[in-house]
Amino acid sequence: MDNSKYSKVCLPVMRLIIYTGKGGVGKTSTSAATAYRLSKLGYRTLLMSTDSAHSLGDSLGIDLGNEIKTVSKNFDAFEIDIIHEMKTKWTDIQSYVADFMVSQGMGSITAEEMAIFPGMEMISALFYVNQFNEGGNYDVIVMDTAPTGETLRLLSLPEAANWYVMKFYGPLKKLMALARATLGKVSNIPLPNAEVMDSIDVLKDTMMNVSQILDDPQRTSVRLVLNPEQMVIKETMRAYTYLSLYNRNVEMLVVNKVYTDEMLASEPFRMKAKEQAGHIETIHNAFDPMEIKICSMRNTELRGLEMLDVMAEDIFGSEDPAMTYSNESPMSFRTEGDTDLLVMKMPFIEAADVELFRVDATSLMVHVGSQKRNIHLPDSLISAEILGADFIDNELIIRFKREQYGDR
Ligand SMILES: Nc1ncnc2c1ncn2[C@@H]1O[C@H](COP(=O)(O)OP(=O)(O)O)[C@@H](O)[C@H]1O
Ligand SMILES: [Mg+2]
Repeated sequence: MDNSKYSKVCLPVMRLIIYTGKGGVGKTSTSAATAYRLSKLGYRTLLMSTDSAHSLGDSLGIDLGNEIKTVSKNFDAFEIDIIHEMKTKWTDIQSYVADFMVSQGMGSITAEEMAIFPGMEMISALFYVNQFNEGGNYDVIVMDTAPTGETLRLLSLPEAANWYVMKFYGPLKKLMALARATLGKVSNIPLPNAEVMDSIDVLKDTMMNVSQILDDPQRTSVRLVLNPEQMVIKETMRAYTYLSLYNRNVEMLVVNKVYTDEMLASEPFRMKAKEQAGHIETIHNAFDPMEIKICSMRNTELRGLEMLDVMAEDIFGSEDPAMTYSNESPMSFRTEGDTDLLVMKMPFIEAADVELFRVDATSLMVHVGSQKRNIHLPDSLISAEILGADFIDNELIIRFKREQYGDR
């Protein structure tokens, strides 16, 4: 490829680009197109799918197994096969859970059965992100995800895991030391052995590292793929709300399968022209000033890499897909006079949809619709008195009394 017309950004650290959206909108195609373009720009690129409905291979026109395969120069891809992952990577924890089940009279559990827990693919994917970040194998990871609420929620998992670990892990370790010294067993529950505890340690460290990557809006972007259809737009708006709640940087919309003017001029689609224009206007009204990319509907039989090239050209033109289009964190801390503010962006909802709880001195719980997030307060706000909360211009603003020197 003649790279002279393409701009390229400088990536000091591994970049992570996550595509999500409703089923069938074109996540896999868009992810693959993005990854292929990145590889051609010279980035060492990994395309990873966490969708158990494996279609990455189809989109690339190659046969992918459960190991990483090289598609073309600088371009590796794989689909996470969670049963394979369970059997090879999670053996300690899996056998502990199996022992635990037996001890509770529930019969054993196989790797296949454990693999059905929702979101396991995503957890595995986060492990790979950590591994490749540490190994420096790739410049960019593009993640193609499953179209479920689970995926959204799991993007907040590292943070939640840290919270659990802080709450329970320390006490559990103490309890185990005590139990080993005295009883050997606590009732009939088998204690996790050293290997399991090591696995939990690894889990804890991994989640901590991954949370740092996910929390950095310069490094990690979420991009929402959608089609100009009413239901899809609604669902995309909801996803944006939840992703903001989880503090993920949503910096692009890809409106895919947009009929071209030529198509709309022809008889079968003429009726659609006005409808589609209306939907695109709705998208702009809802999401401006976010970066909105349009990708045309194709009716040609382009397959494999050739199709991906066409899509990438449509979406990115001469831009570098690795660029961070906007790097604003949905959650921020500010100071105003003698109050400290925690500000959370909450698009498309109203004050009545939000519930706020103080869990303890160190954390807050925010509920929005069916989703909730536990927010760990920074050291400066631990134990600070909450003066109140307001909901202004789609921002939840929580006011804390500033600690005065000498207050403690
Ligand atoms: N711009 C497009 N024009 C025509 N067909 C498309 C376009 N984008 C995706 N498709 C087709 O739509 C189907 C679903 O796309 P896919 O990328 O697998 O979606 P998802 O991963 O969101 O389920 C596939 O058959 C794909 O080839
Ligand atoms: Mg897909």
